[in-house]
Amino acid sequence: MPQTARKKAAAPPAPETPATALLAWYDRHRRALPWRALPGVSADPYLVWLSEIMLQQTTVTAVKPYFEAFRQRWPDIAALAAAPTEAVMQQWAGLGYYARARNLHACAKAVVAEYGGQFPATEAALRQLPGIGPYTAAAIAAIAFGEPAVAVDGNIERVVARLYTIDTPLPAAKPLIKEHAAALLAHARPGDFTQAMMDLGATICTPRNPVCNLCPLKAFCQAAARLTPEEWPRKAAKAVRPDRRGAAFFLRRGDDILLRTRPSHGLLGGMSEVPGTQWTADYNLTDALREAPMIAEYRLLDAYVAHQFTHFNLTLDIFVANVELEAEAPQGCRWVKDVDTEALPSVMRKIVAAVRSSGW
Ligand code: ADE
Ligand code: SF4
Repeated sequence: MPQTARKKAAAPPAPETPATALLAWYDRHRRALPWRALPGVSADPYLVWLSEIMLQQTTVTAVKPYFEAFRQRWPDIAALAAAPTEAVMQQWAGLGYYARARNLHACAKAVVAEYGGQFPATEAALRQLPGIGPYTAAAIAAIAFGEPAVAVDGNIERVVARLYTIDTPLPAAKPLIKEHAAALLAHARPGDFTQAMMDLGATICTPRNPVCNLCPLKAFCQAAARLTPEEWPRKAAKAVRPDRRGAAFFLRRGDDILLRTRPSHGLLGGMSEVPGTQWTADYNLTDALREAPMIAEYRLLDAYVAHQFTHFNLTLDIFVANVELEAEAPQGCRWVKDVDTEALPSVMRKIVAAVRSSGW
């Protein structure tokens, strides 16, 4: 080639890295999610925080309607901080892991009291706030403030474990995965990188049947090269989830239903419930009525409720009874006309639904 022609040639393009390939893909295929800012617009830290708390252990599909309801009812952190805790619990009802709702409200109050309603912008300061753990602090710092923080969730763990065919099982592999993720990120638009990894894990690099042929990281991926991506991440053998059983007592007084509030800490803390027995491995039906909240002519419903909690599976028998219109609520309980205005967790809604569909 003559000398003159070579001088005019454009500089060769920078070599593609996993981060540049991923970001180019994200720019074309990013999911439109209600908490995401449009391209080039900075995200509202309040909405990023709210969505990240809701998305802990919960799917995007389940979160969307709750996110919209919260945003409408409490459009900014000052509004949320000023709300009564019961209203926040009630609006959260059905989303699960209720400690999140209590911490959400405590965090809103702390940001208003300590930071004048502006979220702090660093991972370290975010980490000090109620309900914000290492993952969430990094996610907010990256997505809302553009900090080069590395937020490793289940999606990102899976993608990284496959890229490098990491044979250490989870959870022991977490520190190694985090190192790899940090090296990949290397200051490349941290918020977009984080969300791109999440989208890739949710839509392409899925737990089953990942679609490597559509994946922007295929050229960099060792698991794809070995044609067995589903073999990663390796997992330590899972403990089996134990069974517990119990009974619920569905008491009706005219249009009213008897409810009580659970203790503020522990499982379903502070939520409303249909009174019931303890939930135990050695529950038996014959003894259940001893734990009934009041004397009544109970009938055992020909239906039961099954629910999975993180640490156990629950099966509940349901006793129903009508009581006289003058009957007073026993200590710690109350008569409620409209259960839909109550902070009823999913397992309790299942009881109400089972009673309704029994026709009783
Ligand atoms: N899961 C957790 N955070 C998320 C986000 N910002 N976008 C999509 N999925 C997520
Ligand atoms: Fe996952 Fe396949 Fe992409 Fe590798 S190439 S990151 S296994 S989807």
